[in-house]
Amino acid sequence: MAAPLVDSFGRVHRDLRISVTDRCNFRCTYCMPAEGLEWVPRHDLLTFEEIARVARIMVERYGVDGIRLTGGEPTVRANLPVLVKMLSELGTDLALTTNGVSLPLLAAELHAAGLRRVNVSCDSLRPERFAELTRRDGLTRVLEGIDAAVAAGFDPVKVNCVVMRGVNDDEIADFVDFGRSRGVEVRFIEFMPLDADGIWNNDLVVPVDEILAGVNRACPVAPVERTSAPATRYRFADGSGSVGIVASVSDSFCSTCDRVRLTADGQFRNCLFAVTETDVRALLRSGAGDDEIAAAVGESVASKWAGHQINRVHFVRPRRSMSQIGG
Ligand code: 5AD
Ligand code: SF4
Repeated sequence: MAAPLVDSFGRVHRDLRISVTDRCNFRCTYCMPAEGLEWVPRHDLLTFEEIARVARIMVERYGVDGIRLTGGEPTVRANLPVLVKMLSELGTDLALTTNGVSLPLLAAELHAAGLRRVNVSCDSLRPERFAELTRRDGLTRVLEGIDAAVAAGFDPVKVNCVVMRGVNDDEIADFVDFGRSRGVEVRFIEFMPLDADGIWNNDLVVPVDEILAGVNRACPVAPVERTSAPATRYRFADGSGSVGIVASVSDSFCSTCDRVRLTADGQFRNCLFAVTETDVRALLRSGAGDDEIAAAVGESVASKWAGHQINRVHFVRPRRSMSQIGG
């Protein structure tokens, strides 16, 4: 029987995020330099079989019940629906975080393979600004992708918007209207210090209270009871759906965190901001048994810290950027 994956603070970890590639067809300014990063060589990426094996061990041994595929941009990995099919057989809640450009092509196939939930990242609804932020002229495709996901039957479809002061904080009302009119849940995310170029600073963070005030001005909301999910959710008073705010910086949700991560090159991380990793790929490729892999993962979680302490002086920025960890 599955024993839960518990750390020394009593937090139970049931949510596994798997990065399937560090590559991306966008170059978001806060995530990558214009020329991209140095990609992981192909033979260093976990194969689908290796990914599925780690996922199966996590589900069977530790009762993991949620899996999210991330990147880089996960749809850049060839044959992603094949992996989705393999993972959907584990019977967990399976989700995908994507920049959306490939969804017009892939949404139906991913849904047929067993994927049920999708989050699309989109930080601006203005074409020129979108192009500046992502260094790609892709807004039309992303919006088509969101529609394609709704049409394919994904439920819910969420739209992630990283709010940055002086960059896109004047679009909160537009995003609220967008979410209500398309029937998707917008999630506003505070900008976190995980950018490749080190442009992050506290002044760029728009705190949750300010985001919430902007949302309320556009359409009044009432809070929905909190779960372990990092987003605080609010329902529109007129019944036109809901919106989420992820206060990753100003009100850390570390105390209820239930996530662990596997990078595209097979490193297990017990926190988004972890500074050490467990080399699961080395275990997989040296003939380790399931027991050994389960034990290594269990030890990593057992040693997990209380939280990231972004706002403290001793905060250490992780070596990897968001695209390399997988969000
Ligand atoms: N802070 C907050 N969110 C970020 N993302 C990428 N970098 C950051 C950051 N520094 C978001 C992406 C996407 C998800 C994978 O994480 O926009 O929605
Ligand atoms: Fe790609 Fe996401 Fe990074 Fe943008 S934030 S470059 S879409 S991985």
